[in-house]
Order: sequence, then structure tokens, then C-alpha cells
Amino acid sequence: MDIKENISLKKYNTFGISAFAKRFISIDSVYQLQQLLKINKEVFLISGGSNMLLTKNIEKLVIHINTKGISIDKEEEEFVYLTVNSGENWHDFVLWCVSQNYGGIENLSLIPGNVGTSPIQNIGAYGVEVKDTITRVEGIEIATGKLVTFSNEDCKFGYRNSIFKNTHKGKVILTSVGFKLTKKNHKLNTSYGAIETELISKKITTPSLKNISDAVISIRNTKLPDPKEIGNSGSFFKNPVIAIHHFLQLKKEYPSIPSYPISDTEIKIPAGWLVEKIGFKGKRFGDAGVHNKQALVLVNYGNASGVEIYELAKKIKEEVLNKFKVALEIEVNIIE
Ligand code: EPU
Repeated sequence: MDIKENISLKKYNTFGISAFAKRFISIDSVYQLQQLLKINKEVFLISGGSNMLLTKNIEKLVIHINTKGISIDKEEEEFVYLTVNSGENWHDFVLWCVSQNYGGIENLSLIPGNVGTSPIQNIGAYGVEVKDTITRVEGIEIATGKLVTFSNEDCKFGYRNSIFKNTHKGKVILTSVGFKLTKKNHKLNTSYGAIETELISKKITTPSLKNISDAVISIRNTKLPDPKEIGNSGSFFKNPVIAIHHFLQLKKEYPSIPSYPISDTEIKIPAGWLVEKIGFKGKRFGDAGVHNKQALVLVNYGNASGVEIYELAKKIKEEVLNKFKVALEIEVNIIE
């Protein structure tokens, strides 16, 4: 197998951080992966590279997961069941589903990354999370090389969370994801304000999957930086959940603070609002910065190092904690 040495990972991570892999291999089959795992137990995986911040060079063998393929497992009157290999680009997969009139993930258009990492942080946007369509996740256990299957329940999905970020972190390599999508009677989710506004502005009253996908693409393009132009990893922080009494105190001082109800005792507030209120929206320190249209997104204007971006994130966390007594949690996987 073709293991290369001293390879720059700049083009393999959407932050565009120029860290190096001591040894690097791109694989396009599960068999190749199993063979590699027989002799290398210490491996570092990279797939779409859209949810990581590299703060150092990687000493372990870097395996780039490039397994492609979408297969239709079963069709019913209303549903289609698909298996998609990990290395498929997420957005291309969404567009393909929309073109086939398969419904369920159109709201997740334009999310960077690959299919195989979508379950790890349970990607979500505009009222939909990928967990709503996942039937199973398949992977290889690193320690044994055995194939393992997880049902939707096994994955213990939560808001930007799953077992693959917790108990199973670093223990399995996800090789494919199974989806159940609708062929008719699509459950369209247009409840998210910006989608409704976008559809109304286009005078669309009975939207198709394509209309919704287009609306999401257009909203994302106005707010979120394209990683091909400015390095970024989407939302850098999770939206924090705080106690209602804490929220009421904040609301007294900041009557316009946005919020989303969670339970009788807790409420979610947008991290982007908090970061904007500490004055960091659009700020730039060398090539590390905070996006000027969405303060939840940290950006690399070109040659920022992972450490510089991480330092900026720590500064933001500290200032948000001081001003609002809210602890921000980093969503992106920090490699240190
Ligand atoms: N807001 C500000 N200032 C900002 C950004 C946001 O005040 O700079 C306020 C907005 O005015 C709005 C609220 O925060 O009232 C929410 O903003 P937005 O609709 O942009 O969504 P978000 O909560 O900031 C989340 C996801 C995004 C997803 C959008 C849409 C998280 C961590 N982020 O962002 O996901 O696209 O909702 O569903 O939950 C990602 O995970 O990478 C990502 C981009």
C-alpha cells in the first residue's frame, strides 16, 4: 500500500491548517482499512476534515477515508433504504437525494464534511438533525479489526452528540451509514424562520425538496463562509443550555436575548449572540478571526495556525464566562 511521508494536511481539513502528517495514506476500500489496522493500531483518521482543528503535526499514521458508493438496499411504496460509504461528500449526497426525490435531509444542504462523519456530531441545521434519518451505522473496531453495526438507538444521538464522541471515541472507524428516506408524503420542515421568509420571497407556497434545499443553500451562503474561500469548521461552539433562573437574570439586562425552550428548567441560547455581545464579531488577530456575519464561526484567513485559532477560542470562552457566567463548550474536535 502506498504510504506517503511528510504530507501537508492543509487541503484535507476545512480550516485549511497547514499541519503535517509524518505518514499518510488514502484508502478507498474497507478491506484496505482492515489490512492497515492489522499492523497499525495507532492511527489518525481524516475524512472530510470539517470538524477538526489541528494544532500540531500528526505523528501517527494518517488514514484518509476515501471510500465511495451509494447503494439502494430496499424500496417500499413510501420509503427508500440506502447505504452510503463514509467517504462520500455530504452535500453531494444531499443533492443526489434531492434529484431522486428522496426526502429527509434537504435541510442539511451545504454542510461541509463527509457522510461517514455525519453521525459523530449528529449534524443538524434548520430544524433537522441527521439522526432523524439514520437507520444504522457500520464501522470497524480498531482494536480487533472486526466489523460492527450500531442501530440508531445504539448511537445515543443528542444535540451535536453521539457515542462516537464519548464512549466510542477513537475506538471505531465508521465505514458506512444507513438511511431511511421518504419517496412520497415528504415531511417538509419549513418551520425555521429564515426558510419560510426565503420561500415567501420566491412566492413558493407548495415547496419541493429542491425548493427547500435551494432556500437552505441561499441562507447558508449569506451567513456562513465557504471553506473553499475562507477556512472554517462551521459552528465552533455549541449553543449553551442554561438554567431558566440564570436566563431570567440575563434577560433583565439584555431584553433582546434570543432563546429556545428546552424544558421547564432549562433554556438554550445562541452562542453566536454571546460572542457578538462581547464585541468579537468580525474581529481579526493576524489570520485568525471571527466571521463578520456569524460570530459562532471562527475563521482562518489564510495562514493562521491551529494554536492561534485555539487561543482565540479560549479568549472568547473566558470573556463570555466573565460577562455572562455562561461556559461555552467547543464543538469542533481539537487535535492537541
Ligand atoms: N446571532 C447573533 N449574532 C451572531 C450569530 C447569531 O445575535 O453573530 C443570533 C441570531 O440573531 C439568531 C440566533 O443567534 O437570533 C441564532 O442564529 P442562527 O439562526 O444563525 O443559528 P445558530 O444557533 O447560531 C445553529 C447551528 C448551525 C446551523 C444553524 C441553523 C449550532 C452550534 N449551530 O446556529 O450549525 O446551521 O443553527 O439551524 O447549533 C454547525 O453546526 O456547524 C452549524 C453551522
